[in-house]
Amino acid sequence: MNPASASMADTRTSRPAPATTDYLAHVFAQYPIEIASGEGVWLRNSRGERILDLYGGHAVASLGYGHPAWTRALTRQAQECNFQTNAVHMQVRLRAAERLVRFSGLDFTSVFFVNSGAEANENALKLAFRMTSRPRVVAVEGAFHGRTAAAGAVTWGAKEKWYGFPRAPFDVTFIPRGDLAAVSQHIGADTAAVIVEPVQGVAGAVDLGAPFLAALRTRCNETGSLLIFDEVQCGMGRTGQPFAANLYGVTPDLLTTAKALGAGFPCAALLLSDPLAAQLKTDDLGTTFGGGPLACAMVEAVVDIIESENLLDNVRRLSAQMRETCIVGPVVAMQGAGFLAGLRTRRPARDVQRELLAHDILTGTSGDPHVVRILAPFVLDASHIAQLAATLAALPS
Ligand SMILES: Cc1ncc(COP(=O)(O)O)c(C=O)c1O
Repeated sequence: MNPASASMADTRTSRPAPATTDYLAHVFAQYPIEIASGEGVWLRNSRGERILDLYGGHAVASLGYGHPAWTRALTRQAQECNFQTNAVHMQVRLRAAERLVRFSGLDFTSVFFVNSGAEANENALKLAFRMTSRPRVVAVEGAFHGRTAAAGAVTWGAKEKWYGFPRAPFDVTFIPRGDLAAVSQHIGADTAAVIVEPVQGVAGAVDLGAPFLAALRTRCNETGSLLIFDEVQCGMGRTGQPFAANLYGVTPDLLTTAKALGAGFPCAALLLSDPLAAQLKTDDLGTTFGGGPLACAMVEAVVDIIESENLLDNVRRLSAQMRETCIVGPVVAMQGAGFLAGLRTRRPARDVQRELLAHDILTGTSGDPHVVRILAPFVLDASHIAQLAATLAALPS
């Protein structure tokens, strides 16, 4: 047991005493741990104690820490050429786009690389407005799409909590999850786009399911609205399929992804279907850092590692093991898909998360006060799930 974490009263509010003056903006709730290093699925804190990481830095560390092929790819590209703009051709950029499209197995023909999830969504929404000349977007209750002006405008509850801009840049209608009547009622001839996380992450691993997603697809076809899947958190193998679009058999017009895409190197991508790609003109979109050679080398490496190590299969097997063995102790049910899993807890999730951390297992919470969120690295093995199950079983129910 890690005594520091065991003694903390609240997992998310205390800041460890800084070794040097702390000039960082104090805008993040903090775990009561300081991480010094990581290896595989283990983090090591500044006192040298090991912590099993089932949270992956908000779903980013999809390959864990220090994966040799990831590190080699980064080093090789840094030595070859660390940066050039999108205004010059680079083979590594072409290769990354091709690998990503092929990995998806979906009907996309074009990739625009950017730097963050919010930026990918911002560009997806901008394209939808430009290509449809319509004024309104439909989003789903509970959604999180990012903190920028457009992404924040389609994020549920942002206006009340942190939005900050004086007004949203366009009209937004939020529809309840799974409400098929609302789909017909609110998606119409004035709707530029529908944006949806197929499995909502921040909301607590809420799987929106094939019937609802298929209904969105059908209604968008009827009305000429564009369907945007935000797979920033649920994409890139996290559900055990390349994308949740594959899992549910529903292909959007635009798909955004980030987080696991670079497995720790910051990057994001917007994938476009052919009819949209065909309409793109020079200067429609732009970025300085997006599609930089380091980011592209990492996208290529991440896809390569996921495929060559059969990690999608690993996620599917181990998430099934989690469902079979982890509904114990304070956990009453499991939700979500693959390694975007929500452990529904009888007691407040925050307490269970703190107790798990006291036993050296790092997990996350969510917008649902009774869901502990698991965003584990894809390289986990059965012994780690067994450790989680045994620890949960020993907690008070
Ligand atoms: C589904 C989803 N979309 C968008 C974002 C925003 O991504 P970023 O923080 O990279 O801007 C997040 C971040 O948590 C997310 O979970």
